[in-house]
Amino acid sequence: MTTPRRGPPGRGAGAPQHGQGSTMAETRSTGAKIFDWLKSKMDTAFLILRNTLPILVVRFGGRTYALVTRFDDVQEVLQRPNVFNVTYAPKIAVIMQGDNIFLGMRDEPDFTRDKTTMRMAAPRAEAVARVKPETARITAEVMQPALQRGRVDLAMELTQEVTTRLFGAYFGTPGASVKEISDQARSLFGYMFADLFDDPDRKTAAEPVAEAMRCYLEAAIAARKKDRGRHDDILERCLQLQDGGAPGMSDRQIRNNLIGLIVGALPQPPMVIPQLFDVLLDRKKELAEAQAAARADDDAAVSRYVFEASRFFPLTPGLFRNCEESYRVAAGTLRARTIPKGAFVMAATRSAMFDGRRVANPRRFVPGRPDYQYMHFGYGMHECFGLYMNRVMIPEICKAVLKLPDLRRARGADGTLRMDEDFGIFPMNLTVEFG
Ligand code: HEM
Repeated sequence: MTTPRRGPPGRGAGAPQHGQGSTMAETRSTGAKIFDWLKSKMDTAFLILRNTLPILVVRFGGRTYALVTRFDDVQEVLQRPNVFNVTYAPKIAVIMQGDNIFLGMRDEPDFTRDKTTMRMAAPRAEAVARVKPETARITAEVMQPALQRGRVDLAMELTQEVTTRLFGAYFGTPGASVKEISDQARSLFGYMFADLFDDPDRKTAAEPVAEAMRCYLEAAIAARKKDRGRHDDILERCLQLQDGGAPGMSDRQIRNNLIGLIVGALPQPPMVIPQLFDVLLDRKKELAEAQAAARADDDAAVSRYVFEASRFFPLTPGLFRNCEESYRVAAGTLRARTIPKGAFVMAATRSAMFDGRRVANPRRFVPGRPDYQYMHFGYGMHECFGLYMNRVMIPEICKAVLKLPDLRRARGADGTLRMDEDFGIFPMNLTVEFG
């Protein structure tokens, strides 16, 4: 495949606040239609916009929308968290009984407190020391039955299983079963990030799932308090921080932060990995090179192929923000535009990663681009908490697949990437055959 694929709709909750009554319904459906159109023609639309209207500001249905498509401007927006505020807080409040977590916060003391204490509970060094070998071990186990059959589904069978078991053990929250907790996480992720137009049915569907997740976490915390000192995981470390009087570490805050980790961690590798294989499987040369790197256990080279493939089909077209004060993007340049207070803004990271002004030969598959040209895991203050884990666990899972001989799509529908029917953003199946 030589052209970028359509990606899933963007993450980003906090849908625009439209007008009232029928106007609101009409606006929502027109907005949804425009969004669907944009999705289907996304990369062409981004290309045109980058070169004509790189900071597009439109007034529509009583609200202003801004779409920022060039690399520099996307980073500028994402670097101003108090001007361009994340949109997630209202949905986090639904999930967490009115509370917030750092994902939903501005640049404020509680943000720093919580991201810091959670980092203390999940130190960066553990990504390589613990997450990487654990991923390799679990992946090998999960692949075992597939090796006999000569085929494996990269989505639910492989990546969802590995990710859920890996993080279940690392967080200390394995859930009642892999299926139950990963289904819950996926459904809350869809509500938070893919319900752009605040569909009330989505809220109704999310509420009982959120309640079940809260109950599970509360029970897990209570059980752990009767069984201290025998586990080495994030839950135990949160309780140690609580013992030491660390701020922001009440039982309820630990519960909320762990829900945040579960909803962030479980659904996304099973999105990214099948999507990047959807790209690689159609590129014979690059696939062969990536396989050679995997067989040579050249992890750095595997990473380069994996994250470059992901650029052609990333997690999301962009990140959404609410503009909280009038702000001139790209000030001092000819393309400068003022985004007014109240605008709903999309920082199109997918477009930025194809901006030839900063990414050389953007249409070409170039393994070995510098890290700073990728925005797979966000940018700026809200950059992904799991960044260091992602950098090792995603290539590690991919390496096990790339090592398989004669790797190819399965024949028929199973060999085509299939998304879920509800949100349309979660890969449900992409089966490969080998040997
Ligand atoms: C393929 C895997 C992943 C992808 C593509 C991904 C992507 C992202 C992106 C794009 C953001 C920024 C959101 C924004 O700025 O609006 C983010 C934030 C976040 N991610 Fe991830 N993520 C992944 C895995 C994980 C994992 C494994 C964890 C937990 C261990 C995690 C936890 C979080 C949290 C807590 C935030 C909020 C960070 C903040 O607000 O400072 N993510 N992620």
